[in-house]
Amino acid sequence: HAAEAQRTDLMTITRHVLNEQGRHPESRGDFTILLSHIVLGCKFVASAVNKAGLAKLIGLAGDTNVQASNPISDPLYSTLLFLHTNPCDGGWPPRVAVQGEEQKKLDVLSNEVFVKALVSSGRTCVLVSEENEEAIIVDAPLRGKYCVCFDPLDGSSNIDCGVSIGTIFGIYMIKDKDNVTLDDVLQPGTDMLAAGYCMYGSSCTLVLSTGNGVNGFTLDPSLGEFILTHPNIKIPNRGKIYSVNEGNAKNWDAPTAKFVEKCKFPQDGSPSKSLRYIGSMVADVHRTLLYGGIFLYPADQKSPNGKLRVLYEVFPMSFLMEQAGGQAFTGKQRALELVPRKIHDRSPIFLGSYDDVEDIKALYASES
Ligand code: AHG
Ligand code: MN
Ligand code: MN
Ligand code: MN
Repeated sequence: HAAEAQRTDLMTITRHVLNEQGRHPESRGDFTILLSHIVLGCKFVASAVNKAGLAKLIGLAGDTNVQASNPISDPLYSTLLFLHTNPCDGGWPPRVAVQGEEQKKLDVLSNEVFVKALVSSGRTCVLVSEENEEAIIVDAPLRGKYCVCFDPLDGSSNIDCGVSIGTIFGIYMIKDKDNVTLDDVLQPGTDMLAAGYCMYGSSCTLVLSTGNGVNGFTLDPSLGEFILTHPNIKIPNRGKIYSVNEGNAKNWDAPTAKFVEKCKFPQDGSPSKSLRYIGSMVADVHRTLLYGGIFLYPADQKSPNGKLRVLYEVFPMSFLMEQAGGQAFTGKQRALELVPRKIHDRSPIFLGSYDDVEDIKALYASES
């Protein structure tokens, strides 16, 4: 009966968050409504990424025509535009795509979907997206009490080869709804009240924390629902994997270089670590969270603040790592204690298993 009960007692992400919100009697479900709009965006990207792969393989009729009338000849984007403007309504092959409409890249397309979903939720006030140079201040009639910083499509360089990509988001509470300023999002990560990511991989997995631990939900495409599959994720205290772009080794500073050297040639006779680097932060972090180990995007001479953006990559992933029992360090301080000055500020980041990050902290401490 337990198995049967399990099967029929569907713990969806909405139900899970409502349960958690139960701990905040004052909440009127606003966060749940906000989350349901983020989930909608994730479902759109999941479907667009999956369909696009298929369409690209079989070369939809519309694909050729759209290509012919468009300067950008990449079939993936014209297929996405095609699918976006002509959702398959059952007929096959679908009707010819809209001619000559401006091409949209998946990261731009995803961004538009997330922005529209978040604004229409009526629960947001300030939006910061990797794809928008300026922050978006929501018009007064539609304003809510949350600020969302997000990377609509993380790992864009991996789209065309079908390697996992993702969406990352972090949520702040607005300070004063009637006096909205950028200061509402130029806050330390310790002020975030929730963070999460969605990974579009062999399965579509959404990992979320609202400050009471970390939970993973997998999209059941037949239901269109995210179902709880990874309750209360805890990262192992130490891992056997390090994850870094070794191609930047010539530009690393001494502590980073020494740390990576020790991963490869341990002095204490322990086995060397394995290198795993996918190049999509969401995928590298998801593997680190589940298997343990350390992910690093250090500063280097080329980019003294590293590459990853504080508000919508470093903070959300650091928030999740701490909630799962790991930690996140910038080379100088606890990552969540950073205070960004500009909305696209970058920071070096070392995050993952608690003891692995302790090792790199010790190397930076001995160097300073
Ligand atoms: P985005 O696609 O959102 O711009 O992010 C790409 C980031 C991140 O996903 C990944 O960890 C990092 O770029 C990889 O950078 P390198 O290719 O320099 O290693
Ligand atoms: Mn990114
Ligand atoms: Mn991105
Ligand atoms: Mn980008």
